[in-house]
Amino acid sequence: MSQPSAVSRPVTVPEFRAAKGRAEKLTVVTAYDCTAAKLVDAAGVDAILVGDSLGTVVQGHPNTLPVTLAQMVYHTSLVVRGTARALVVADLPFLTYQVSPRQAVKNAGKLLKQGGAAAVKMEGGERTAEAIAACVRADVPVMGHVGLTPQSVNRFGGFKVQRDAEHILADARAIEQAGAFALVIECVPSDLAARITAAVSIPTIGIGAGPHCDGQVLVYHDLLGLFDGFRPKFVKRYAELGEATRAAVRAYCAEVRKGTFPGPEHEFK
Ligand code: KIV
Repeated sequence: MSQPSAVSRPVTVPEFRAAKGRAEKLTVVTAYDCTAAKLVDAAGVDAILVGDSLGTVVQGHPNTLPVTLAQMVYHTSLVVRGTARALVVADLPFLTYQVSPRQAVKNAGKLLKQGGAAAVKMEGGERTAEAIAACVRADVPVMGHVGLTPQSVNRFGGFKVQRDAEHILADARAIEQAGAFALVIECVPSDLAARITAAVSIPTIGIGAGPHCDGQVLVYHDLLGLFDGFRPKFVKRYAELGEATRAAVRAYCAEVRKGTFPGPEHEFK
């Protein structure tokens, strides 16, 4: 989508969906708080994903399973407060939509009504299609997520590239049929992502899925070099803010210890 103009207005779900197949790819970055959302939004991303990846990069868990709906509502409300233009999409966390379509609608509704998100994201394909359709009928826009779905980590036996092409393609088609407006494809071979992108009428947003998707998403902490827990092959760091932060705090400690901070310019006379 085109760069934000001086007067920004929110990107809408229909606008995001209509970007399918355009030469200019869609850009999505995660954020979990107001400050990060302001920075990412001002940089001109099309959508901000309040990902349940906050379980790993914010909360320090080994995976996303412990994240609760209340935490997602809270972090979504922080992000919405810092966002003027980007479409805010919030993840439904583990076991808040898998039980029944009714549960999915009720919990997705909380992310919109209390969190202020414009849309929700759900993992899974054929098995999630009914829940997606129920949300869409209730006017809750849904982004799907196929391939390596992190909430399935125990079934997959780890975070592994997913290669079952026919199954993943069927999942993508089921999500499209259920009425989702976009689809994240995570950690699949590039040629499979290209096949899915050609097969569905909704934009595909890749992460570890090669260059042929309609857009890309990266986790904020990965993009900025803030997270050292693990570094998947698909991550490109556009800054080394982890190292810059350590250096800044080391410099502050050294100046306080030497007595050179605070200086006269920081004093009230
Ligand atoms: O939770 C998340 O941040 C995600 C992205 C990695 C797509 O689902």
